Amino acid sequence: AQNERESLMIVLGFAARYYQETLKNHEEGRSIGLSYFRERGFTEATLEAFDLGYSLEAWSAFTDAALKKGYQLELLEKAGLTIRKDENKRYDRFRGRVIFPIHNVSGKVIAFGARILRTDPSKPGGAQPKYLNSPETEVYNKSKVLYGLYQAKQAIRQHDVCYLVEGYTDVISMHQAGVSNAVASSGTSLTEEQIRLISRYTQNITVLYDGDPAGIKASLRGIDMILEAGLNVRVVNFPNGDDPDSYLRRVGNAAFKEYLQKSTVDFITFKASLLAADTHDPFRKAEVIREMVESITRIHDPIKRSVLFRQVSNMLEVEEDALLAESNRIRLQQARKE
Ligand code: CTP
Ligand code: MN
Ligand code: MN
Ligand code: MN
Ligand code: MN
Repeated sequence: AQNERESLMIVLGFAARYYQETLKNHEEGRSIGLSYFRERGFTEATLEAFDLGYSLEAWSAFTDAALKKGYQLELLEKAGLTIRKDENKRYDRFRGRVIFPIHNVSGKVIAFGARILRTDPSKPGGAQPKYLNSPETEVYNKSKVLYGLYQAKQAIRQHDVCYLVEGYTDVISMHQAGVSNAVASSGTSLTEEQIRLISRYTQNITVLYDGDPAGIKASLRGIDMILEAGLNVRVVNFPNGDDPDSYLRRVGNAAFKEYLQKSTVDFITFKASLLAADTHDPFRKAEVIREMVESITRIHDPIKRSVLFRQVSNMLEVEEDALLAESNRIRLQQARKE
């Protein structure tokens, strides 16, 4: 199995270099892939730092090149690079897409994300998925991988905080703007393993999810998971419709960094802000307070819990005793379930 893992990483490394080479030197790669990245504002240094590439539109350009180099078809299939229909029908998984290699913490390529260039619903055969990702393989377990961690780990340690974003391009744009301590839980919702991975470098996570209902929902789920894991969590909310990448492009580097500074809030303040629209409704307010208590109850550290109950009591003008009583009720209920 160790041998197989090594063979997989070798062929994945070959593929990454092939896609990079295609982006830089192939006519189609330059006119389609490179133009796409340039339009998104990615610099040469960024393309290099993330090993970005391009896969040709032809059915089996990559597979043919790999076979010619002596890689076995079976290995290409196991690596998730080639799809085999039957004996003589095989084609490349990634075609006509820009390529985002996914690295492990030591910088080896273990998988790929691949983005379609433009979403064209008028195309026959229906809409293609915006991103296609490698399948799970012997070397790629998506729930245990964070996109960008290899490029971010040093900065995460240095700044003692990890920015958690949704997408590949959020990580890349922030890195290009000099905010290198960003990672994405791409292609999956945040997992315990991913949080544990971050905790090797810092105990502080700031969630920067997309400014849409799905992003807010994912933030709320992420907050609870991070608290449960014993880490500290903060949140930056983006205007509706923006993600870190689009917001950065819109306002520029300096304003983006300033926004991060002044819009980072603790999770209680974040939850309170979701209530802001209807604070006058006592029942809605009670519901939000209950959700805050639920989140705080997940924290194992009694001192942090105490500080947070005090904060909720002050901010939302509710008796601390009521918060503690509700917290104890939640605990008893959980204990009974177990
Ligand atoms: N994603 C995925 N498959 C999809 C759509 C999304 O794996 N069909 C993952 C990708 O890792 C993507 C992330 O979810 O980066 C966030 O999705 P989304 O916000 O839709 O994409 P962006 O990262 O914002 O991509 P872009 O800016 O290129 O549109
Ligand atoms: Mn490189
Ligand atoms: Mn989104
Ligand atoms: Mn997005
Ligand atoms: Mn985006």
